[in-house]
This record gives sequence, structure tokens and C-alpha cells, in this order.
Amino acid sequence: MSRGSAKQQLPDWVKSDEMNPQALLQEHNEASRNPVTDVILASQAPQLLRLFRAAPRLSFSSRLAKPRERLSLISRHLNSDANVPLRTPFSVERESRPNDDILWEPIERKTPEYQQKQSFSTQTVSLQEEGKRDKTIVDDIKSAKMSSQPSHPALLIPGPIEFDDDVLASMSHYSESHVGQPFVNTFGEVLAMLRKLFQTENPASQPFVISGSGTLGWDQVAANLCEPGDEALVLHTGYFADSFADCFETYGVHATQLKAPIGDRPQLPEVEQALKEKKYKVITITHTDTSTGVLSEIKPLAELVHKVSPDTLIVVDGVCSVGCEDIQFDAWGIDCVITASQKAIGCPAGLSIVMASGRAIESFCNRKTRPASYFGSWKNWLPIMQNYEAKKPSYFATPSPQLIHALHTSLSQIMSRPLADRFARHKKVSQDIKKEVEALGLKQLASKPENQANGMTAIYLPEGLTPPEILPNLMKKGVIFAGGLHKEIATKYIRFGHMGVSVMSEERDDISSAVKALKEGLEEVNALKGGKS
Ligand SMILES: Cc1ncc(COP(=O)(O)O)c(C=O)c1O
Repeated sequence: MSRGSAKQQLPDWVKSDEMNPQALLQEHNEASRNPVTDVILASQAPQLLRLFRAAPRLSFSSRLAKPRERLSLISRHLNSDANVPLRTPFSVERESRPNDDILWEPIERKTPEYQQKQSFSTQTVSLQEEGKRDKTIVDDIKSAKMSSQPSHPALLIPGPIEFDDDVLASMSHYSESHVGQPFVNTFGEVLAMLRKLFQTENPASQPFVISGSGTLGWDQVAANLCEPGDEALVLHTGYFADSFADCFETYGVHATQLKAPIGDRPQLPEVEQALKEKKYKVITITHTDTSTGVLSEIKPLAELVHKVSPDTLIVVDGVCSVGCEDIQFDAWGIDCVITASQKAIGCPAGLSIVMASGRAIESFCNRKTRPASYFGSWKNWLPIMQNYEAKKPSYFATPSPQLIHALHTSLSQIMSRPLADRFARHKKVSQDIKKEVEALGLKQLASKPENQANGMTAIYLPEGLTPPEILPNLMKKGVIFAGGLHKEIATKYIRFGHMGVSVMSEERDDISSAVKALKEGLEEVNALKGGKS
């Protein structure tokens, strides 16, 4: 897929002469001369001086090196050919491809060693250690719903979620170089799969995977898509909008929150009016607000923004929705979706995942000021991500190879079935859960069906009951739910996460066990309190 030159995409304040090999060479030579060390060395040991000059980047002068040179120092060993420019955020070349001296083969995903369950203890006995077990037995065990994980209560909070055995096994990948070809190939495949997950075929769209959590996505938006003094319209459906707004303010961006009553979402006419009142650089929509379980409808909102304020960039906080709710990045004309690894994507926490549209990247390139973040700056990450996808070793900051392997496995699993089936399954399971909750006489924060998320349910407890009274009881029954998070009503409700493998795997009974536990737990706690069951 041709995505054009990354060099062209970079803003003016990056380009200057930084890509000019001659300017680089001249600067390199100048930087390698430190007047102080030169004088000392010249007077005391001319031979030493010659030695240091021969390896200038390892000399004392490296202490004075600018960031560009520090990066080159670290990645220098990648190039067998000294004439090939180093690929750092400051030097990208996508056309020529140096010979890779490491042969790459797809990674063989081995079945993990299955271990015997020892009810609710973390002690396990490896069957393979017992010596006499063979693959047939391992398969038998798998079909008997055994897992490689020690027996544990099912984690049904709205993220992190339960993880699949193979995803966890990928985390125990042997250590490998983060700039070696095999790892870079894996990273490149991850980026390609993310395009599919976000349903974007537009070559100008740009995925980013950076070590961090979902919060880093907010920082990336505020630092890269906005400039100090810009206006952001934040649609508020719970706690996470408050935090996103706070993040904007941190970067000098003025955030206006459009709030709805708890359990509801701002309505289209209100959003339209707000957009007409002021010129907003970005509008943010929390797809599923994890504090309330309220779902926002992206498509009609995006249509409205396109009509009323076409220059406004549409940003979706999809931390609790990517992987369980339909997001049609291209078709709906979204500019940026941020998410994280640990929710419906089903990979352990530690990765900030972002998809930016060509328009968002263009807006970034046209900014007048440098992003006020170093680690989160797309100036640094854009060329790295483009190089990874072109399977070219690159370095800006060390990624976590183990997490990237886990993400590769979880995305491969997601992509092995049609996305529509995945979303339909989440919806069906969610509706079944919501019916059961209703049958128990419990109300949801999101009372209107159209506001209800498919990956979680926020449930009001019966009058007088608090989360600390019910949650430990549920945990004893093998289920972990989360307490309330919305500051105004936190003590009145609990949250049930139903995403990923707990929903998709036919071998697991997490959901039915959780519904049963909730029913029994409420009866028991009510009985203890002398109430009616
Ligand atoms: C909707 C939403 N946005 C942002 C975040 C922040 O993500 P993280 O906790 O991974 O930093 C979360 C976390 O749960 C979330 O649910």
C-alpha cells in the first residue's frame, strides 16, 4: 500500500534541513568537535584525539549531542552500511530498502503448556512436566475447558478483562531486539490488522501503538491535534469526559463540556446549537463511558458535525468500545479514535492505540507550534509507525515486544472471524444480561435502550445496599465486578463488564456464572440485612 512519503507529511518545523544528508554530515562533524575536550586531548595526547575523532559519536562530545544525535547513537548498530541514513523520527526514508541480514519467518504460536487446575489456588502442575502427557491429552484437556491459567475468579469489570490463554502465552515470548527485523515485522502486522479493526482502507489513515494506557490517547489528541488557545467541545456522558477535558486544559486548550443528566447523552439539537455558537477545533465523543455504561451514537453525531461545522475534527474515545462496538472509521468520517489494549481488544494493559485520519495528520502537519509533549509527539512517532508498517527497523523509544506479541495474537483472533459477527455477539450477550438484570428488579444507569453500551452494564443496587456489601460476596462466588465510578452516585451502583473472550468463547461460562452469582449474592446479602430477597 502506498502511503506517500512520510517526509512530505512532516510539518515545516521538522523538515528544515534535517533531512538534508549534507547538512546532517556537516553538523555531525561539527558536533563531534568539542572545543574543551579537543584542547585537552590535543595538548596531551594527539593520538588519543585521533582515536576519538575516528569514532566521534562515542567520544566525550556525545555528552553535548543534540537529541537527533542521541537517537542516532542508539540505533547506529542497525546499519551494516554506514552510508544508509539512520531511521529515527528525524530521518525517514521509505523508498530504499537495505538488505535485512536477519531472515524472518512467521512466529510459530505454540499451544501453551496446559496446567492442571487446583481449585482456587494459584498452585499449578504442568502436565508436560509430568513427562507422560502428549498432545492428545493436551487437546482433551482443552476441550474439557481447561486453561493454562491458574484458577481464579472471572474478572468481569469493564477492563482489564479476562485474557485468552494464547494471548497470555504470547507474553512469554523470548526476549528479542526491539529493532530486529522479526519484531519489526510483527509490529508492522499489528498496524495492518488495526486498519481492519477500525474499518479503514484509506491509505492516509495512520495507526499508532505506543506504550502507555488509554490516557496517553487523550494526551496525543490534546498535544498533537490542538494548539494552545484552541477550543474543544467535549460531549459528557460520565467521568471520562471530565478527565479528557482536564487533559485539554493541561495543554492550554479550552474545553467546553456539553453535559447530559446521569445515564443519558447530549442530544443532537443541543450539539448542533453548541457547534453553531463557537468554532471548535475538535469535538470529542466518549463512545462508551465506562463510568455509566452510556453508549453514544457516533454515526449521526459525525453526520451532524460534517454538516454544521465541517472543519471540526471528530475525536472518539473508544477505550471501552473498540473491539466490541461497530466503528466504521472511513464510512462515518471520523478523524481520530483512541483506545487501549486491555478492554475489548483483549490484550493486557500497557498499550495506547490510536487511529488518525489523513485529515487529522494534515492538521497536525499544519500546526504552528511544536506539540507540548515529547513522548506523545507525533513528530517523533509518525515516521516510526510508518517505518514499522514498511517493515523497517526504527527507533524512537523502546516498545514492549512482549505486549506487541500479545496484541498480535489478540488481533489475529479478532480478525479470524467477521467483525460483524463479533459485534452482533456482544450485542446479544449484552441484551441477555440486561434482561436478567431487569428480571432481578434492578435498574440501569442507562435507562433508555438506545443509550446502553454492549460491552458493559452499570447497575443500580437496591436501595440501602452499597458496593462493599455485595462485591466481596460475588468474589467468593468466583466473579469480580467493579464498584461505581461516577462521583455523584459512586456508592449506589456496580459495573459488570462483558467484553472479549468472556463473551466470544463458547468454552467459557463466565457470563452465565456471573448472572447466577449476582442473583444469589443479592439474595444472600438481602437476607443478612433482614430485607426481602
Ligand atoms: C472511556 C475511557 N477513556 C479513557 C480511559 C483511560 O484509560 P486508561 O485507564 O487505560 O488510562 C478509560 C479507562 O477505563 C476509559 O474507560
